[in-house]
Amino acid sequence: MSPSTQNIAIFASGRGSNAQKIIDHFKGSALARIALIVTGNPKAGVLNIAESEGIPTLIIDKTEFATGEKTVDDLEQYQIDLIVLAGFLWKLPPVLVAAWPGKIINIHPALLPKFGGAGMYGKHVFRAVHEAGERESGITIHYVDELYDHGQIIFQSHFTILPGDDPETIALKTHELEHEHFPLIIEQLLSPSGL
Ligand code: GRF
Repeated sequence: MSPSTQNIAIFASGRGSNAQKIIDHFKGSALARIALIVTGNPKAGVLNIAESEGIPTLIIDKTEFATGEKTVDDLEQYQIDLIVLAGFLWKLPPVLVAAWPGKIINIHPALLPKFGGAGMYGKHVFRAVHEAGERESGITIHYVDELYDHGQIIFQSHFTILPGDDPETIALKTHELEHEHFPLIIEQLLSPSGL
């Protein structure tokens, strides 16, 4: 690992399939490494991934996280360059957003600005997309600000919804796109040439 290798913190609340893909992608990379996994859910599957990959973890408390300072201090100890939200369900405190300007990104399992905002996560999104009779859906990778699913869009990718597709099919198609693109977009963002 070179001294210029950048440190990524992945924030996740769930099973961590995106986290796993990102970890795998940067194994042996001189560009970046996953330095820390952060979660607010002590039962999150992503903690098992962190353990088997030997990645340090930080379990945060909701009330303390809401003030932001303690988390900023903790992340600074790991010299975090980029924060990647991969299924993280809490809104970020302003202090944290201000401490990493332009260096926090999120993945959303739909084509923002559609199907975003408070309460729009996981299966709620896939159900809403299905119920709305959409002919296509996709993924959005975007910068994070203090509002849910609101910051500037970096990348989107689409898929077609076929007549027989149910919310589960839509979820599968979405995750496939996430796993394909998220690690690559992170790599491009961190590359000297940028995106
Ligand atoms: C992904 O669908 C992501 O778009 C959303 O939460 C889900 C996380 O899935 N924000 P996983 O924990 O990475 O499997």
